[in-house]
Amino acid sequence: MDAGRITALSEVPDDSTVCFRVTDDAGEVREAILVRTDPAATDGGESTAETDGGERPAETDHVACWLNYCQHLTHIKLDKGSGAPMRDGELVCANHGAYFEADSGECTFGPCEGAYLTELEVSVADGDVYLTDGSYEFVGTGPIEDDDFDRTSTSNVEF
Ligand code: FES
Repeated sequence: MDAGRITALSEVPDDSTVCFRVTDDAGEVREAILVRTDPAATDGGESTAETDGGERPAETDHVACWLNYCQHLTHIKLDKGSGAPMRDGELVCANHGAYFEADSGECTFGPCEGAYLTELEVSVADGDVYLTDGSYEFVGTGPIEDDDFDRTSTSNVEF
């Protein structure tokens, strides 16, 4: 089934994020981001983990999902539409330089140190990443379109 499919795991870069849209429980459209949490372990692509021991759910360990909003000023987006900057496995808020661990969402440095990004539950199956969080519904990939910007750009396309 494709319900809730966000993207292929291979589309999630090692050093940036994939932005997509969800609706929350209140019906409000929000942005979320997918991020690799352990790039070195996923270089083989779809099924690299040894599952004989049964302890690790393979691919799911290597991707995390967060709402795309800084914990310092919560209207500020980490990924402004072309991927959030990352350094040494941490997401960086370009506004005031807060660092967030990709796998835990914890702010390790900056004005909101100790705060956590809001997590969305995702899972990986057959090389695709699915939104499995009961509090959110997948809307589509890419950022929320700015209506004003859209209207402007459309009206300008007259040759
Ligand atoms: S808005 Fe992100 S660090 Fe200030």
